[in-house]
Amino acid sequence: METVTQLLHSIQDVGRDDVRGGYSRAVYSTAELDLRSWFVDQAQRRGLDVETDRNGIIWAWWGKPQEGALVTGSHLDSVPGGGAFDGPLGVASALAAVDILKNRGRTPDRSLAITVFPEEEGSRFGVACLGSRLLTGAIDVDKALNLRDADGNTFADTARSNGLDPRHIGPDPESLARIGQFVELHVEQGKGLGAHGPGIAVGSSILGHGRWKLSVHGQGNHAGTTLMADRSDPMVAAAQIIVAVRDAAAGQPDARATVGRLTPVPGGTNVIASRVDMWLDARHPDDAVTARLIESIYAAAQDIAAAEGCSVFLTEESYSDTVHFDPPLSRQIGDILPGVPVLATGAGHDAGVLAGYVPSAMLFVRNPSGISHSPEEYVADEDADAGAVALAEVLGGLL
Ligand code: GLV
Ligand code: MN
Ligand code: MN
Repeated sequence: METVTQLLHSIQDVGRDDVRGGYSRAVYSTAELDLRSWFVDQAQRRGLDVETDRNGIIWAWWGKPQEGALVTGSHLDSVPGGGAFDGPLGVASALAAVDILKNRGRTPDRSLAITVFPEEEGSRFGVACLGSRLLTGAIDVDKALNLRDADGNTFADTARSNGLDPRHIGPDPESLARIGQFVELHVEQGKGLGAHGPGIAVGSSILGHGRWKLSVHGQGNHAGTTLMADRSDPMVAAAQIIVAVRDAAAGQPDARATVGRLTPVPGGTNVIASRVDMWLDARHPDDAVTARLIESIYAAAQDIAAAEGCSVFLTEESYSDTVHFDPPLSRQIGDILPGVPVLATGAGHDAGVLAGYVPSAMLFVRNPSGISHSPEEYVADEDADAGAVALAEVLGGLL
């Protein structure tokens, strides 16, 4: 029997990023594959039966695989330079919760599975929650297979070289039917849980969010020989567009919009770029407001680009509506954990995708600074261990 803290300790060296700090555990990178092997080993040591489905989702079964099972889990991939907890905390807590239940002599009345979803962050192929979107059919299969990583590898080729058959990737109603209820434990990604009081919360909703690519096209040229007046520099347009994104979101209550990634092409110090690709992440509780925000950002971007002698193109890469978790399941969890606060989140999760198809819920564990997607993401040992006990209570109560 191991605690969450001990389990997380055992993977603390996997995928460390010495350049960015924290962890870079992109899906199907050596680091993420090592974590997947670690999980399989941990599950087998607990006598769980492990299988990987046709979308690369790992299932570890306590009891026979069956329809309507209770399922818990999270992901092991990270953002570039991410923290130690976003994803692995939910997976390690699930393993620890099984230990706690077994230690209490509990045998499940219905089967329980722990799942590990691939590419939750969308850090490699651009679409977050790719595994759960494929499982449920929330993404078009051809679109998914043709996604490319920064090196130009398609998702289809990457899946194939990791033992999956691209012809069988896509909606999997049999696997989905096995999820009777889904509960994901996750590090809290805000400061919703104060320093005092319970370190655990029950999730209520996830903010609607999406990703868009803005490509600014200009004229590639020589940095030394091109007079300032003669330039069509997409980097200069991009800089102004980023400010316009910030201003548009700042002027809209409850909106968040971020440009966190930008690629100049070709990307040379003495080269005026010919194109700049940038990715916009925008979120708001009201999907119609998000749509209007994106329209206004695109209109501003077109004006800015034109003034710099450039043009700009916008494409939507993914969108997830605002999600409200299953009220009966959340009420059941509230009864099992009386007095635990209820929190909304601005972060996306596989539980949010699954919520459109099966009763889903979340538990959050205190993160005192609220910092996440950063090496500074933090959970105190006692909160992590209390989280696993709470998850064990919830799973035990629902089984
Ligand atoms: C995932 O963590 C997201 O909210 O983008
Ligand atoms: Mn994340
Ligand atoms: Mn996560």
